[in-house]
Amino acid sequence: MKQDVPRRLAVVVNDRESETRTPSRPLRPIPPAARDPFSAQPPLMEWGGPPHLDLSRIAPGRPVAQGEVIDVVGQILDEDARPVAQALVEIWNCNSFGRYSHVADHSPDAPLDPHFRGFGRLMTDADGRYRLRTIRPAGYLARADIGWWRPPHIHFSILGNGPRLVTQMYFPGEPLNEKDPIHLIIPPGERPRAIARSEGGVLRWDIVMRGRHQSHFEDDHD
Ligand SMILES: [Fe+2]
Repeated sequence: MKQDVPRRLAVVVNDRESETRTPSRPLRPIPPAARDPFSAQPPLMEWGGPPHLDLSRIAPGRPVAQGEVIDVVGQILDEDARPVAQALVEIWNCNSFGRYSHVADHSPDAPLDPHFRGFGRLMTDADGRYRLRTIRPAGYLARADIGWWRPPHIHFSILGNGPRLVTQMYFPGEPLNEKDPIHLIIPPGERPRAIARSEGGVLRWDIVMRGRHQSHFEDDHD
């Protein structure tokens, strides 16, 4: 004869906390507006076109920093050249004197520019596109003891659908590119991919997150 086994779950008789941890009212979803302050997503600028970041001034309507204003456009791609949508792109470059807007940059001969923003972030659109306006960075003396001048470059950190990539964009036609150890560590065949190309008044630079043609990972943040 089949035994009639009680199917009750065994529970602790009373841990004296269960009641206080159990909601006394029905749960309701938090409205999206109330969730916003907890999300890591940066505010996006709705200027039309690809997501746009302007580092050339502190805020819209404020004076533009000294130097040459440049626009950089590009796409974030995966190993199969598919766009990486909604990738978080953080960007920073030094000003036209070769100094970063960062407390750790103590370059004695390079002044800060009070109108230069110098760093920021955006998220790519559904086609993985981004658009950056900034001031063309100067080269700077990275190591005075060995006379090492870094060529003009822009730092990018991208967090998309995989591990974070940190890399640098170089400028076409810069003689310092050929003397820079950080640039020269890139295999010769891949070096052209690290250099933006002029295209219709803007610089075009695509970033490949993974795979055989991955943009070179540069964890030296100088
Ligand atoms: Fe740098």
